[in-house]
Formats: sequence, structure tokens, C-alpha cells
Amino acid sequence: MNFFQKFIDSRILGVLFLTVAGTAGAQSTPPSSVDASFIQSTRGIADELLGQLGQKLKAAMATDGPVAPVSVCKEAAPSIAHQLSLANQAKVTRVGTRVRNQNMGVPNAWQKEALTQFETRLSQGEKATDIEYWQVGDNGQGKSELRYAKAIAVQPQCLSCHGSAQDIVAQLAEKLRLEYPNDQATGYSAGQLRGAVVITRPLP
Ligand code: HEC
Repeated sequence: MNFFQKFIDSRILGVLFLTVAGTAGAQSTPPSSVDASFIQSTRGIADELLGQLGQKLKAAMATDGPVAPVSVCKEAAPSIAHQLSLANQAKVTRVGTRVRNQNMGVPNAWQKEALTQFETRLSQGEKATDIEYWQVGDNGQGKSELRYAKAIAVQPQCLSCHGSAQDIVAQLAEKLRLEYPNDQATGYSAGQLRGAVVITRPLP
């Protein structure tokens, strides 16, 4: 087999692989079968969650000292996610590559798959804010649902609560230990994948 044949064979294998991956239904771009406005509004929910939470966190960290913002996260994050879920007939939450809130933050099977894909894409130099995952799946009752994940990367301002021991002041570390005895979500550095916003919505 000469070089050219090998090249062609690997191209064919590549196409085969993409086809198989495609039939599994997961993709980095929105599924063409879903209405563009539904795609946009799904992205909008994720942006809303990240935006509202970011603002709350920023305000609390500027005025309330190092420890109080933990409570802001503890109450505000689930409550904003809950409100957005109700308003949009969706299931909206955040999941982590390592998890702090063991009730809400543990990824299920498709969300794990999304996180694994995100790690690879981030390491290949894709910009975190552009990294998305889309899937149409069965909701378990014979209806179709749209599944969407958007990458969340660690930023420098996250390290005071998700960084390593020297980033987290003692008082705050103590508060985290009390509130989250099974906390896994420390030891991160800036630029790493922290997790994803995940949204599940029944298709109209
Ligand atoms: C003031 C401390 C604090 C800061 C700063 C902070 N977090 Fe968190 N983070 C928390 C707490 C507390 C939770 C658990 C919230 C809950 O109970 O739902 C959490 C949970 C999360 C989760 C959900 C998954 C899990 O592990 O439960 C993600 C994702 C997350 N944080 C990302 C970030 C990112 C990204 C930043 C920076 C932009 C950040 N956090 C900054 C305290 C903080």
C-alpha cells in the first residue's frame, strides 16, 4: 500500500467514524431538525443563568467580605436555576467536573459525555465560551427532548472558592467544610474546565 492509498483509507475511516458518531445524535453544533428560535432561546437560558449568577457573585464579593459570598452561591445558584426552569418548562442546572453540591451538580450520562468532549476541545485550543454540546434524545416517555450543555471555564475570580489551599482563605475554607462536607470542587486553576450549564427541554 503506498502513501496515497493510506491517506485515502484514513480519510474513509474518518468519515465512517463521523457517521457513527453522528448517529449517536450528539454534536457540537445545533441539530438542524430543531427550530432556530428554540435553539436561540435555549442558549438564552444558559446566558441568563451565567449572567445573573456572575452579577450576584461579583456584588457579594465586592461588599460582603470573603465568607458571605459562599451563602450567596449556595442560595442564589439553585434558586436562579429553579426560576429559569419554571419560566421555560425546562430543567436547568450546573454540573461540575468535580462537584461541590452533590444534590444538583453531579452530571448524568449525557452530561458526562459532554464534559469529556469539552475537556478535549478546550485542550485543543477552542475558546471555552464557544464550546457547546447538543443532543436530541428520548425523554423516557416516548417524546423527544433537546439536551444542551455549555462549557464553564475557571476564571481567576473563581479561585478564591475553587482554587488550591493557598488560594482559599482559612475562614472561607472552614465555611465550605461546614456547608459542603463532601466538597470535591477545589484544586482548580484558571483556564481549566469547571463544568457546564446543562438544559433539558421537551421539544415543542
Ligand atoms: C464565594 C465562593 C465562590 C466563588 C467565588 C465561586 N464559586 Fe462556584 N460554587 C460555590 C458554591 C458554594 C457552590 C455550590 C452551590 C450550590 O450549592 O449549588 C459552587 C458551585 C459551582 C458549580 C456547580 C457545580 C458544583 O460543583 O456544585 C459551578 C459550575 C461553579 N461553582 C463554577 C464557578 C465558577 C466558574 C466561578 C467563577 C466565575 C465560581 N464558581 C466562583 C462557591 C463559589
